[in-house]
Amino acid sequence: MAKKIGVITSGGDAPGMNAVLRAVTRYGIFLGYQIIGIRRGFKGLLDNDFITLTLRSVSGIINLGGTLLHTGRCSAIKTVLGMEKAIRIIKKLNLYGMIIIGGDGSLAAGDVFVRHGIRIINVPASIDNDICGTDETIGYDTALNTAVEAIDKIRDTATSHDRIFVVEIMGRDHGFLTLDVGIAAGCEFIVVPEIKTDIQKLIEELRMGKEKGKTSEIIAFAEGCGSSVKFAEKIKILTGGLEVKVSTLGYIQRGGRPTARTRILASKLGHTAVNLLEQGKCNLLVGITDGKISSVPICEAIKQKKKFDIELVKVLMNLSV
Ligand code: F6P
Repeated sequence: MAKKIGVITSGGDAPGMNAVLRAVTRYGIFLGYQIIGIRRGFKGLLDNDFITLTLRSVSGIINLGGTLLHTGRCSAIKTVLGMEKAIRIIKKLNLYGMIIIGGDGSLAAGDVFVRHGIRIINVPASIDNDICGTDETIGYDTALNTAVEAIDKIRDTATSHDRIFVVEIMGRDHGFLTLDVGIAAGCEFIVVPEIKTDIQKLIEELRMGKEKGKTSEIIAFAEGCGSSVKFAEKIKILTGGLEVKVSTLGYIQRGGRPTARTRILASKLGHTAVNLLEQGKCNLLVGITDGKISSVPICEAIKQKKKFDIELVKVLMNLSV
């Protein structure tokens, strides 16, 4: 009987998850494994919602956003009872190993499974790019391009009306996406959880921008910094009534066709995940570090804090004069 590998997508979806599913399924089957897809994230696991993935069931999905398996947030998996049930189900399924595709919640669940003797490989997928042990998460490049394209459009209307815009970018706890969007879209400022915003300085800069003949000023505002609407109102008041508009990019950043870069990363990491299991290795998070495929123990990835690139913030400020 073929050994079974389970695969699950969990947490917020990210473009490129399908490309990982395709890589895991195709390479897994090539090596002689049976691939069990766990549907609807950890909720599906607790509900025994499984399908067998075949070479053909992953056809035509490399170019699709979302996830063929569906996903979800699952509070039950964070409870002792929920986790015990999940472990019982995984053991009953008799999986040789399990590949978990997702963000920080998936990593935390993976860590607990590992401590219960289940062979786990985590594949980092999140538009937030906030996972340690990889320079880039799957889906990040696609979200970055989506947001930059949106801001390019906002810039057109902002310039035509001589307006200031606060554009809210996704990122629950971190400003990694906001910083890169800010650089790539030529934003004047960023507001991120990692740096305390000096509002008086920002107001001064906005006023100076007008004096220097700037026809538009865009502030990339990370979701994790609170209400972008309240922030815009504050700016309006403090600038003495300058016109400030808000645009929240929202969930469009999570959808859409994955970029070629995302697809390549997803294919490489999916392939690596299966390869590691085949070599008898597990309890690892796979990633890309300095351009090379890498892996780190899941428990290490959880402990570390991803470094925010302050130098890049300086670059943004120096270039937005
Ligand atoms: O983790 C990815 C992410 O899109 C965050 O940027 C955002 O804060 C969160 O998920 C939204 O989650 P949900 O889909 O549960 O609303």
